[in-house]
Amino acid sequence: MKVILDVDTGTDDALAIALATLSPEIELIGLTTVSGNVHVDKTSVNTVRVLEFLGVDDVPVFRGAAKPLVKELRTVEWVHGSDGLGDSGIPMPRRKPEDKPAAEFIVEELRKSSPGEITLIATGPLTNLAIALLLEPRIVEKIQKIIVMGGAFGVTPHGTGNITPVSEFNIYTDPEAAKIVFESGAKVSCVGLDVTMNPSAVLRAEHIDRLRGSGSKAAELAVRVTRGMMERVGFFALHDPMAVALAVKPELFKTEEYYVQVSLEEGDLRGQTIADRRWFVRELGEKLGIKPRGAKVSIASWVDGPRFLRFFLDRITGHEGKE
Ligand code: RIB
Ligand code: CA
Repeated sequence: MKVILDVDTGTDDALAIALATLSPEIELIGLTTVSGNVHVDKTSVNTVRVLEFLGVDDVPVFRGAAKPLVKELRTVEWVHGSDGLGDSGIPMPRRKPEDKPAAEFIVEELRKSSPGEITLIATGPLTNLAIALLLEPRIVEKIQKIIVMGGAFGVTPHGTGNITPVSEFNIYTDPEAAKIVFESGAKVSCVGLDVTMNPSAVLRAEHIDRLRGSGSKAAELAVRVTRGMMERVGFFALHDPMAVALAVKPELFKTEEYYVQVSLEEGDLRGQTIADRRWFVRELGEKLGIKPRGAKVSIASWVDGPRFLRFFLDRITGHEGKE
């Protein structure tokens, strides 16, 4: 499948990029960068840094939005390090991003594509995708689907917030953009904290040991960019790689459709993804004359954590199928 990967590279975005480049199911036609974890100046440099570290020099990178659509940008260097890559010393890049802005690239690629040819995978705030959809709403007819790492839907016990008690960072950073994407009419699938924070699906010390001994550049990248978080909390959540996994290994997941609203309130409720989980509305809504609230999206409601980790580690170490 042809993929445009939209990232706010960040430590887990780096692992999503690595997984995408190592997945034969994916033809990566471009990477677009956005402000989120750190400013887009850094996420753009980091995205090229990661590609060059992995020896990938034929995938173009397009710089995108420097701030969310409405509110101010609030970065999280305390999570991803001052450089956004865990201050892990990954060499600075030789090449630069392309001159064309990210949203323009997205619109142009979709315009010239056949219907259903391109899948968009977004692992940062949805600002670039929203701008592209505002620039040219008709691209919806061309998009195969949009896979979003984002949201906390309460469909599992892990589906609480991270940046606030109820809101997940990517949606919290630009909820107006998320609302535009969710309501665009495109098929949207969300990988939220409900599954990415499942304790059976996070990297732990024993996984790092396997990576350390593997000799692959992607494994070395993973060991380096996860080191800070591993030392601080003893685990590393694979939020963004899990969005790539949903694209290439959907059998690792269960997904369910819900109507979802995005809160545009101020404060802790901002960016809350409210799934309409009222069973009586789902089953009796027609009879009761009650319509579910929000836009219909597909939500990952379960992940086979051990199989996901095996899949991730096999691909990153290059040992897939070499049991
Ligand atoms: O909430 C986790 C998400 O926010 C991940 O995409 C991480 O990289 C940050 O962007
Ligand atoms: Ca991210």
